Amino acid sequence: MVVDDERTQLEFVGGFLSKAGFEVALMESAARALERFRKEPFDLVLTDQRMPDMSGLDLLKQCRAVDPEVAVIIMTAYGSIETAVSAMKEGATDYLTKPLNLEELLLRIERVRRSHQLVRENTELREALLERHRIEGVIGESGQMQEVLDLVRRVAPSDATVLLRGESGTGKELIAKAIHYASPRRNGPLVKVNCAALPETLLESELFGHEKGAFTGAFAMRKGRFEIADKGTLFLDEIGDLPAHLQAKLLRVLQEKEFERVGSNRAITSDVRIITATHGDLEQLMRDGSFREDLYYRLNVVTIILPPLRERRQDLPALIDHFLRKFAEKNGKAIQGFSHEARDALLRYDYPGNVRELENLVERAIVLTRDDVIQPGELPLTIKETRAGTDDQTNLSAVVEGMERRMIVDALSAAGGVQTKAADSLGISERALRYKLRKYGLRDDK
Ligand SMILES: Nc1ncnc2c1ncn2[C@@H]1O[C@H](COP(=O)(O)OP(=O)(O)OP(=O)(O)O)[C@@H](O)[C@H]1O
Ligand SMILES: [Mg+2]
Repeated sequence: MVVDDERTQLEFVGGFLSKAGFEVALMESAARALERFRKEPFDLVLTDQRMPDMSGLDLLKQCRAVDPEVAVIIMTAYGSIETAVSAMKEGATDYLTKPLNLEELLLRIERVRRSHQLVRENTELREALLERHRIEGVIGESGQMQEVLDLVRRVAPSDATVLLRGESGTGKELIAKAIHYASPRRNGPLVKVNCAALPETLLESELFGHEKGAFTGAFAMRKGRFEIADKGTLFLDEIGDLPAHLQAKLLRVLQEKEFERVGSNRAITSDVRIITATHGDLEQLMRDGSFREDLYYRLNVVTIILPPLRERRQDLPALIDHFLRKFAEKNGKAIQGFSHEARDALLRYDYPGNVRELENLVERAIVLTRDDVIQPGELPLTIKETRAGTDDQTNLSAVVEGMERRMIVDALSAAGGVQTKAADSLGISERALRYKLRKYGLRDDK
């Protein structure tokens, strides 16, 4: 859209741009321009600054109120630097001085087009990322996982510190991502630090940064992960491995919201939400004196426990299908699924490596298979050797237990948490109910 109250100027610029291949709308007054702008989308508004009914800057503001992303280039009379400066301050995409240099105009438009394309691509990437890490993308039909996901939905909107616990491969990192991308911080960074991966001194400067010359090899100032995660989420993985001295420093950040770079005593603040994870036994570490109790209480404001896969076998079928689809697509293979025997073996197995092990198994089978139905031959020996018979029973009882657990949860919530009422409605004694609550980890400790 080209806006100018001088007809000759308008036609001069408009004619040039349409010859250059642009689709142009010519507007002789700002008011008319605005009216049209409200009705249809434009990629770029090129407007004169001085017009009788409204200034170009005012038009800029009004257009942005309609479409915050629209590019606006302001044309100012030669020599009026102030207008150019305020145009940029008011958020104009660019400005040009009159008389117009048409070559220059084309260059500026091209520049706008390219940066807009980048913005759009960036938005698309971000949306894809959000999509990929949506809570709904976490597979889990079992009662245990439904409870986990319910907790995730409740903590995500807050800034509460979350401690994720569970065996290796149970999905702690996946849940950390789901929390971040469901939180108001989703457009900020999600920064991960593995506390077990680095030696103590490096870990300290990784977390808190360092000044130039702070230690041998510190040739330049470096920001730490705490600073980089500002306005976002910091995910501290393997928190049980954090050395004592850094535990103290982390505790201080949590309490006072400030820290110093290594080699400096200037306090820095950073606005971060902290999520930590561990597969370790923190209680044991506290008893041994290698994990601070005060830090533990700061970190486990909300604890989410990811149950091992063998304790939620109801999730197996959906997970198998999920990974089957994922890796069939990735490998460009049209795979129908597993044969009966192969599927049975997968359903029987214990998965000491949890979901990650299952994921790797499915990927391996899909890569290896020459058939569109995967046979037991494509599975590793350990799985095929899991004995049948007793295992069918395990399978059945797992299903029954899952159902029983869900009925208990439902009955309890229908009874408003009153155990006698819940036991009544389930037709079991209160004592039996209490036993089952303990068995399923549903015990109310109040
Ligand atoms: N419920 C689930 N739905 C879909 N994918 C899952 C689920 N749980 C785990 N995964 C996948 O399994 C793999 C392992 O999960 P993740 O890395 O989150 O585990 P972890 O608990 O952090 O393990 P570790 O303690 O070894 O770091 C990942 O590829 C993850 O995407
Ligand atoms: Mg992990």
